[in-house]
Amino acid sequence: MAPSSTEASAGAGAKPSQPSSSQLDAVRASIRDLIRQPDYDDGSAGPVLVRLAWHSAGTFDAASGTGGSNGAGMRYEAEGGDPANAGLQHARAFLEPIKSAYPWITYADLWTLAGTVAIEAMGGPQIPWQGGRTDFGTTEADQAKIPPRGRLPDGAQGAAHLRAIFGRMGFNDQEIVALSGAHNLGRCHIDRSGFEGKWVNNPTRFSNQYFRLLLANEKEWKRKTLGNGVEQFVYEEEVEDASDEPEEGLMMLPTDMCLISDPVFRTWVETYAADKDRFFVDFSAVFAKLLELGIRRDAQGNVVNEANVQSGYRSAPKKKRSTPG
Ligand code: HEM
Repeated sequence: MAPSSTEASAGAGAKPSQPSSSQLDAVRASIRDLIRQPDYDDGSAGPVLVRLAWHSAGTFDAASGTGGSNGAGMRYEAEGGDPANAGLQHARAFLEPIKSAYPWITYADLWTLAGTVAIEAMGGPQIPWQGGRTDFGTTEADQAKIPPRGRLPDGAQGAAHLRAIFGRMGFNDQEIVALSGAHNLGRCHIDRSGFEGKWVNNPTRFSNQYFRLLLANEKEWKRKTLGNGVEQFVYEEEVEDASDEPEEGLMMLPTDMCLISDPVFRTWVETYAADKDRFFVDFSAVFAKLLELGIRRDAQGNVVNEANVQSGYRSAPKKKRSTPG
């Protein structure tokens, strides 16, 4: 199949079988090669690739079987234009040369695979991954499968919201906390989410630092209202010598902070802060589960549900604010 010039039409209707392991190794190597991006953010495309994989999958609704990483609906305005997905066009653009070089891989497979490769390349755990996802085409029937906007979490909210959003996907409290540990990576951009700053000092190294900082700076996290009216938590170290360049402060979202104010979430934050190996094992399992949401496979691992729809779509829950996560 020849690569198409637009990402929206390429791959439409493709029915991939499981790619061979040597084919996948070549794609993985190409993804690893593009992670270093000296002119982008903290010099790395890794964090935004992880976020692309997560947002492609995080639309899943277990009750209706709709959403999830199958389809790669974010290529279309209906999903790509969700304010929650602002900035992910950078991740998709980073991957476009790889799609052109390996046109047999679907976008849905490429985006999810790239998330796992990026995590590993940034020092995180190996994450089991299986291919075979299909891409939605432009037919009316395919377009109707694009999940409605508003299914991704809103960083301005709290524990009840996280349980509602992740419960809808089929995750429990432990899994919510483990997944949130991805905020070891990357940063918030004021022009994307309305929030600003990074969670940890080295945002391109996967670790359990996020959990340790949540607890270590517990008393130091201060509410701050940004110029755009958005409220987040910040920790700014005092500068000893006034002539020193002030370090960039660290931040937490209200949803991050609820992981230490909610007593059940908190036990998992404490577990992961104390035991990095346990965090890596649990993160690997939950991220693999995320990428498989809504995908049904036969005994050979081939995806059997192209449509990924059981009973049509339910309307999206209304959000309270306009700064989604
Ligand atoms: C718990 C609910 C979550 C909320 C409310 C949330 C919210 C956010 C927000 C507001 C940003 C900043 C976006 C920007 O301005 O560019 C962000 C970035 C990020 N999120 Fe989350 N997120 C959540 C869960 C997750 C999960 C489950 C993952 C992956 C497993 C994840 C991975 C990331 C990464 C890697 C970034 C950095 C992206 C970059 O540097 O461009 N987040 N998140």
